[in-house]
Amino acid sequence: MKSLLSMTDLSLEDIYGILDLAAEIKEKRNQGKITDHLRNKSLGMIFEKSSTRTRVSFEVGMNELGGHALYLNSNDIQLGRGETVEDTAKVLSRYLNGIMARVYSHDTLVKLADNATVPVINALSDKEHPCQVLADLLTIKEYKNRISDMKFVWVGDGNNVCNSLMLACAIVGMEIVVACPKGYEPAEEFVAKTRELGGVLTITDNPLEAAKDADILYTDVWVSMGDEEEEQKRLKDFEGYQINEELIAVSKPDVIVMHCLPAHRGLEITAGAIDGPHSVVFDQAENRLHAQKAVLLKLMVLDE
Ligand code: CP
Ligand code: NVA
Repeated sequence: MKSLLSMTDLSLEDIYGILDLAAEIKEKRNQGKITDHLRNKSLGMIFEKSSTRTRVSFEVGMNELGGHALYLNSNDIQLGRGETVEDTAKVLSRYLNGIMARVYSHDTLVKLADNATVPVINALSDKEHPCQVLADLLTIKEYKNRISDMKFVWVGDGNNVCNSLMLACAIVGMEIVVACPKGYEPAEEFVAKTRELGGVLTITDNPLEAAKDADILYTDVWVSMGDEEEEQKRLKDFEGYQINEELIAVSKPDVIVMHCLPAHRGLEITAGAIDGPHSVVFDQAENRLHAQKAVLLKLMVLDE
């Protein structure tokens, strides 16, 4: 693996390797042990969009691994004034050991990776969010002791996080049911790829039906970054596509409730669901740190 742009850049073996390494690093951190395997390494972090978790977990992760992270708001570097993505990738590769980027268009990541001589990490694009999903898999493994042979239910927008989760479910062998309003289904490209990978995928517009016997209930915002202009329409269209007590009641008794955050209580999830006993959302957020440290080690040291 040279770069991580899509879940499909990872094999089943890669995923298990990353989760094992993440668990090991997490345990060492809890014991106060130092794991500074990235001494003298630098990661550039290009952001075209806002972030709390991704920015902080990558920066702290690099710091704890003995390296350094640079926050590069795309408006503050020459990229924002028209320097090409290609030239930016070539120049940054002369200084850095890795580039992560959060972008509007996935094509920007592809151009970065094609022109960089260092690994490029997708920190969210309009199409995928693989770092989030690795943290989600780590969280599922911690709670369920496995990441296969379960029923994963997505409620809401067929968006970037949903795409990466569908691919991940196909790779690891977990059934996925996507419940979304008509017109907000995941893109055909990702549906086809999921099925090509052997994924067991159902798409429905009935969340209550979907939630029956779920092991995992997952949702995300109705209005993603970049969709703000459609906000009023989306708020109407997504009414009812909410994780709430009714959905939890028809799921398995030990269902876990997941959300990549940031959350909007009362919209895609009720306060009772996100702050209740089934919720694992803050473990998910913490696991961003551990899963991404494993990715950084894999890309910058192990696979070098
Ligand atoms: N889940 C996630 O990526 O959060 P941020 O947008 O805060 O980075
Ligand atoms: N789907 C959301 C995820 C935020 C972490 C977005 O793209 O804004």
